[in-house]
Amino acid sequence: MSTIPAPLPGGNTVLVEIADRVAWVTMNRPEKRNAINPTLSFEMLDVFEALESDARCGVVVLTGAGEAYSSGMDLREYFRATDKLSYDERLKIMRRSALAQWKRLQYYGKPTIAMVNGWCFGGAFNSLIACDLAIAADDATFGLSEINWGIIPAGTVTKAVASVMGQRDAMYYIMTGETFDGRKAAAMGLVNEAVPRAELRPRVQKLAATLLEKNPMALRIAKHATRRVRDMPWEDAEDYLFAKLDQLRFLDPEKGREKGMAQFLDDKSYRPGLAAYRRDSSS
Ligand code: COA
Repeated sequence: MSTIPAPLPGGNTVLVEIADRVAWVTMNRPEKRNAINPTLSFEMLDVFEALESDARCGVVVLTGAGEAYSSGMDLREYFRATDKLSYDERLKIMRRSALAQWKRLQYYGKPTIAMVNGWCFGGAFNSLIACDLAIAADDATFGLSEINWGIIPAGTVTKAVASVMGQRDAMYYIMTGETFDGRKAAAMGLVNEAVPRAELRPRVQKLAATLLEKNPMALRIAKHATRRVRDMPWEDAEDYLFAKLDQLRFLDPEKGREKGMAQFLDDKSYRPGLAAYRRDSSS
C-alpha cells in the first residue's frame, strides 16, 4: 500500500490511499460533513490529475470521511464568502471547482466509482453523477436541498440529475427537497446499487476488481463513448463509434481484441460472453 502526499502544501481536505491498484480518494472535512469548499475542490482536482497518470492506480473510488459522502457546496465559503467578490473573482473560483466536481471526472481516463457512505446533498450530486458508477449504503441519505434554502440546484446539478433520473423523480425531489435513502436512489437509477453499510466497501472493492480485469484502453473509450452518444443523432453516433473502434485498435498497447479472439477462437480457453480474456498470458 502506498500513499500519495496531499498535493497542495499544508492541505489535508482530500486523502488518497492506493491498495491493489485502487485509489481511494476521501473528501476529508468530516466535522463539516465534507462540505465542498474551494480548498477541497482544488485539492480534489490536483489528486485527480495526479492519479490519472499514476501507474499504481487503475480505478478511482471517491468517498467521504465520517458520516457523510458530502453535504454539498459549503454555504459559508462558496456562497456567503464569494458574495463579496467581484463577478470575475467568483467566476474564477466556480470554474476551477466545476473542473474538480464534474468536468475532469466526466471524461476521466480511468474508471471511477462513487461510494456513497452517508449524507449526500446538492452540489455533491455533481461528483456522484460524474463518476462512472455509484454504490451507496442503503441507509445513506440523499437530498436536493437547495429549495429548502431558497435557491435552485444550479452549477450543473439540475443538468446532472436530469441525465440519470426520470423527469417525475427529478421534479419531485428538486421541488420538495425531501430526502431519500440509498435503496430509493438505486430504484431511481441515481446509483447502481444500494447495499448494507457493512458490505459497502467490500462491494466497491469487488466492482473495482472486476474493472481491473478489463482492457484499460477499451474501458476508457467505452465509458467516454457512452456519455457522448447520449445526445448524438443515430447516424452521428454510428459514425463516431466506428471511428472509436478503429482508434482503440490503433491505441491499445496490449492488442486486447486480437488476444481475446485468439483465446476464444484458436485456444478455446475462455468464453467472451462470460468473462474477460486473460490479460497477462500473451503479451
Ligand atoms: N456548508 C457549510 N457548512 C456545512 C454544510 C454545508 N453544506 N453542511 C454542514 N456544514 C457544517 C455545519 O454548519 C456545522 O458546522 P459547525 O460545527 O461549525 O456549526 C457542521 O458542518 C456539522 O453540521 P450539522 O448540521 O451540525 O450536522 P448534522 O449531522 O446534524 O446534519 C446535514 C448533517 C448534512 C443534514 C446538515 O449539516 C445540513 O443540512 N447541511 C446542509 C446540506 C445542504 O443543504 N447542502 C446543499 C448545499 S448545495
